[in-house]
Amino acid sequence: MANHPHAEHFWMPFTANRQFKANPRLLESAQGMYYTDTSGRQVIDGTAGLWCCNAGHSRPEITEAVSRQIAKMDFAPTFQMGHPLPFELAERLVEIAPPGISRVFFTNSGSESADTALKVALAYQRAIGQGSRTRLIGRELAYHGVGFGGISVGGMGNNRKAFSSALLPGVDHLPHTLDMQRNAFTRGLPEHGAEKADELERLITLHGAENIAAVIVEPMSGSAGVILPPLGYLQRLREITRKHGILLIFDEVITGFGRVGKAFAAQRWGVTPDILTCAKGLTNGAVPMGAVLVSDEIQQAFMHGPESAIEFFHGYTYSGHPVACAAALATLDIYQREQLFEKAIELEDYWQDALFSLQDLPNVTDIRSVGLVGGIQFATHADGVGKRAYEVFRQCFEDGLLARASGDTIALSPALIVEREQIDAMIERLAGAIRKVG
Ligand SMILES: Cc1ncc(COP(=O)(O)O)c(C=O)c1O
Repeated sequence: MANHPHAEHFWMPFTANRQFKANPRLLESAQGMYYTDTSGRQVIDGTAGLWCCNAGHSRPEITEAVSRQIAKMDFAPTFQMGHPLPFELAERLVEIAPPGISRVFFTNSGSESADTALKVALAYQRAIGQGSRTRLIGRELAYHGVGFGGISVGGMGNNRKAFSSALLPGVDHLPHTLDMQRNAFTRGLPEHGAEKADELERLITLHGAENIAAVIVEPMSGSAGVILPPLGYLQRLREITRKHGILLIFDEVITGFGRVGKAFAAQRWGVTPDILTCAKGLTNGAVPMGAVLVSDEIQQAFMHGPESAIEFFHGYTYSGHPVACAAALATLDIYQREQLFEKAIELEDYWQDALFSLQDLPNVTDIRSVGLVGGIQFATHADGVGKRAYEVFRQCFEDGLLARASGDTIALSPALIVEREQIDAMIERLAGAIRKVG
């Protein structure tokens, strides 16, 4: 951005700043399935922004709800005060949540949701007289955002390395479930790997269940490159955690709101956690917001002592922000009115067939897909991990498709409003880019 007067001042997140600024990719407007970049070129959005605009971009219903709300009341505190919208939104979320999940704590992001969930788990165990349960268990390759809690239970090395002295103590990691040797090119959930959940039994034997508070997993890992749960794996985690009084937390920041064909992955795969986090699709990406959903039993455990006591010393200035609530309510209306979660299921086979048409292209080593998510993994380039997928991503953008590179994987997660012809266009552009990059 040599000719851009302000290029140096924005320190970009999760970005190769110098490389980007030398050759920027700048988006200017968005509508439905498309972005337009600053040179006026139309780019089909294969990633719903960053896994968040599940109803497509710039939906007028959301724009109007946000505008109305900001004009009526821009902000209202929710500490010892309130306003009607978060109460209404919490009720709407509980309506679509798995049975038994019935209390909602609002945050502003997925990272805050992950850290809030871990704090709820620790405080809950104390509240029920299980104060020795302080250990947390995450998983290799997991992404739970960038708070200190999230990176501690997370399992992506690059996100942890510089902070190793500051990670939470008492954290273990289950093995990840990516097993390309046994599962490459499986359509839907992989057959092999449920036994990896048994590692939890090993950790329980090692530490004693009485010292373990919670296990947190993404039902499907998105950020690490679309890693699907093997058949039976989540069920087994549920059985083991239940047997040992350990809470199970699902991080549904990506899988929430229809991405895998139901409101939440918990419903798609028939496993109900004790705590469920979400963000992104909650407001269709229009205003930052996250939420932590918990069972009635968990919240009730906090509701003792004098009525004047604050039960949980936690919260954000913007928890239940009125503008975010307005965006979320309008978003949930769209999901419901247009039956978008069901649409993801209807399109799943078409989407999968389209992705699997890439199977024989150069250096494609695996394709993983469920709902409206796809991961295409490449052989590692001689110049290192990530190089090939980055080049494919860059070429895709040049050819009019926004994809997402993560390690050696290209991830696609189109908005749930996507049409078949748009799927065809995405796959054609991606195939072209893979061929060009080689
Ligand atoms: C599973 C999961 N948890 C947490 C986060 C963090 O969300 P945010 O970037 O809104 O803090 C993400 C973001 O991609 C995610 O995929």
